[in-house]
Amino acid sequence: MVRRDDWAECETRAGEPGGELAPGEARFRIERLALTSNNVTYALIGEQIGYWRFFPAADGWGRVPAWGYAEVVDSAADAVEVGERFYGFWPMSSEVTLEPVARGRTVVDSAAHRRELPGLYNTYLPAAAPDTETEELLSLVRPLFTTAWLLDDYLALEGFRGAATVLVSSASSKTAAAMAWCLAQRSERPHVVGLTSAGNKEYVAGLGTYDEAVAYDDIASADVAGPVVLVDFAGRPGLRTAIGDRFGPEFRWLIGVGITHAAGAAELSGGAAAESEFFFAPTYLERRTAELGAAELRGRIGAAESAYVDAVARSWPIQRVAGPDAVRQAWLDQVAGHADPRGGVVLTFAQEPLE
Ligand SMILES: NC(=O)c1ccc[n+]([C@@H]2O[C@H](COP(=O)([O-])OP(=O)(O)OC[C@H]3O[C@@H](n4cnc5c(N)ncnc54)[C@H](OP(=O)(O)O)[C@@H]3O)[C@@H](O)[C@H]2O)c1
Repeated sequence: MVRRDDWAECETRAGEPGGELAPGEARFRIERLALTSNNVTYALIGEQIGYWRFFPAADGWGRVPAWGYAEVVDSAADAVEVGERFYGFWPMSSEVTLEPVARGRTVVDSAAHRRELPGLYNTYLPAAAPDTETEELLSLVRPLFTTAWLLDDYLALEGFRGAATVLVSSASSKTAAAMAWCLAQRSERPHVVGLTSAGNKEYVAGLGTYDEAVAYDDIASADVAGPVVLVDFAGRPGLRTAIGDRFGPEFRWLIGVGITHAAGAAELSGGAAAESEFFFAPTYLERRTAELGAAELRGRIGAAESAYVDAVARSWPIQRVAGPDAVRQAWLDQVAGHADPRGGVVLTFAQEPLE
């Protein structure tokens, strides 16, 4: 549990022992969860976007959601049976009780407190028999790659609004790096420049998917052609202003996506861009689902995701974190920005990681 007004304050608490389930409920044992900056952002915008409402907690506290895998350990619901496993959106906990109902090949949590929240987060996909390596990778890759693919799709549909350069902040983040990989698959696209912290510049340059890596402090002097679009994953104070100062009216378009640098005061206003917007993946996903059909869209994203896993993510070093104390420390490290962008953290509340 994390204090909603200070997410560096956190503790693990023993829950009530699981009692008898009401009709329609099922209990899931949560096996593995990915931890990235994305989860810190969930806490940061928990009030505005509603991330605290998925898994209610005691007054003033929140349970931060995370993506991963869980197994049904008790069921009084028709939709799921004991032993079935699902990928989806879980609390950072060892167990959770949902009210699953079948929807096509998936199940959806129909609990009243989640009905108003975006459907993407309430949908659980059946998982095959446990395969540790694949599930660890997919816990990390899937939520972020989907956003990356959708951003690439959106930029291309818009013809990049005529930009000569796509600037990408927090270029070392997994979502940004996956978007750059998607852009790199296109035969025609603008120059793609990764903006990053000085300490991550070498890493970003070595990814091979950005045409160039530039440290935040060098933006004023870097050799970058306008007009530019900024895809902003950082929300870093001063960055949008610095880009506005450098490019003037050629700062054509700003797409706000994330706030990895928001431990202080995030810069979330439009800056000096001619046009600016916030990109929310679930909303754009709904739009493209309506335009292309769910099966077509799932097929396109799934094919690209498989290619990305094989080409890039398979080689990621995975840091396995097990047990409540280690999970707490991993969360604090992530909040403090000490997490290494190479690879990823996968956690479980069990004392030993599942093999
Ligand atoms: N709008 C949407 O629908 C949507 C969907 C998915 C993700 N997102 C957002 O995209 C962002 C990236 O998420 P991710 O999970 O891909 O990130 P990640 O892989 O964990 O990113 C790590 C990078 O973020 C920066 N960073 C992290 N913590 C920091 C700190 N405390 N201080 C300074 N820099 C820090 C560093 O990059 P640099 O040194 O390169 O800056 C670091 O290498 C998040 O804000 C996430 O919520 C938004």
